Amino acid sequence: MSEVVTILVVEDEPDQRELICNILTVSGFNVLQADCVESAILTIKKSPIDVIFSDWKLAELSGIDLLNYCRKNIPEIGFVIATAYGTINHAVQALQQGADDYIPKPFKRQELLLTIDKALKAKNLRGQNKELSARLSEQNKLVGIVGKAPCMQKVYQRIDKVSATNATVLILGESGTGKELAARALHEKSDRKHEKFIAINCAAIAESIAEAELFGAEKGAFTGANTLKVGRFEAANNGTIFLDEIGELSPSLQAHLLRFLQEGTITRLGSNDEIKLDIRVIAATHRNLPKDVSKGDFREDLYYRLNVVPINMPPLRERQQDIAILADHFIAQHAKQYKCDAPSLSNELYRQLLDYHWPGNVRELSNRIERYVLLNDESELTQNFTTNLSSKERSDVPAFNMPEQGFCWQQFERDCLARTLTINQGNKTKAAKYLNMSYKAFLYRLEKFEIKS
Ligand SMILES: Nc1ncnc2c1ncn2[C@@H]1O[C@H](COP(=O)(O)OP(=O)(O)OP(=O)(O)O)[C@@H](O)[C@H]1O
Ligand SMILES: [Mg+2]
Repeated sequence: MSEVVTILVVEDEPDQRELICNILTVSGFNVLQADCVESAILTIKKSPIDVIFSDWKLAELSGIDLLNYCRKNIPEIGFVIATAYGTINHAVQALQQGADDYIPKPFKRQELLLTIDKALKAKNLRGQNKELSARLSEQNKLVGIVGKAPCMQKVYQRIDKVSATNATVLILGESGTGKELAARALHEKSDRKHEKFIAINCAAIAESIAEAELFGAEKGAFTGANTLKVGRFEAANNGTIFLDEIGELSPSLQAHLLRFLQEGTITRLGSNDEIKLDIRVIAATHRNLPKDVSKGDFREDLYYRLNVVPINMPPLRERQQDIAILADHFIAQHAKQYKCDAPSLSNELYRQLLDYHWPGNVRELSNRIERYVLLNDESELTQNFTTNLSSKERSDVPAFNMPEQGFCWQQFERDCLARTLTINQGNKTKAAKYLNMSYKAFLYRLEKFEIKS
């Protein structure tokens, strides 16, 4: 038997409320009722509700206030707003703010039931999505990836979808964003998980030995080749090969790799025999490969062969909600590693972590936390938070003559913020970007200086 669905009817007119409640009760719903927003919130806190059916006008407050409360605190809940005849702008506003449906008054029994059904379906879908996201986050925790931000959910979904296939994957992202971790996750979740995962840093193999190292060499193929050398590709047979820093691969190795991707075969140095291999190829780079292609530094045909499924690892500054989770994760990890107590982070420290722009991404966070755990010194965590602009970023700042008589820093900062806001037409996201600052850090400063947009 399906579970009973609970509807909360919020309506300040007693007759109306009773009528709606009767229709819903007769239709088999478990019905609760409230006559104002405050009492509705109390009911929501006490009992699990599937759908709220709320009138627009509720004494001093409105159904929108209740809707806002719900979307913030219990985002899955189904929500329908009943609007007065001729107030289509209310309906539009309700939908914009996240109502699942609206129903103009007066309405018929059937219309009421239809709108409830619609909200219930929307609620169930949101619930399933949330469950799926949580499951993906959990599953990915097993392979070591931590993070819940929506952009990471996209990464998880991609990993989940392609791990079972043999499709070649190109992982893109700045340094330290977890590209290798994602490659390992793809391997761990594939049928090849019991086979080898061989990681090769293309930037670290010397050109002179690279071909033999990767594809093998027959005995006597070159001076000093006293025995047969099995290359890394052959060693990875049936498993996964991870070509890190693929943008650094020499033109000759690019040609070899392209051949392998096209034919599935390699030839050892000094031999003409083709060896068929079954390998899943994953490549990664922090470089802008299309740019390298246009400059002629990277083969276009190889780029297309590699870029079958791209996965973009987001920079840490774009997944701010993960910073605290990752920080806690690394504290626990490093405390365990060094067998010491896990130090806690004060709210002020968390705030500073959130404000920082993390040019070295997750690796930098991990390293800073490692030093903090080892040395138990807060400055290890936050040192150079404001002064580590890269030389490129520093040179972006226009030359500024320091007045001899000195100047008021506070006033200068306030002016700078206000002018940035003005030249970005009041768009705070753009303004924060312009100042290379996190959105939160920018908002914090606007509030501090009481600057209105
Ligand atoms: N989402 C994450 N959850 C937990 N640890 C992470 C995450 N992302 C990265 N790390 C950790 O951060 C460090 C850097 O990750 P990784 O080596 O995968 O990055 P990368 O993108 O390959 O960097 P590079 O381009 O510099 O090679 C590793 O120690 C990794 O375990
Ligand atoms: Mg790497």
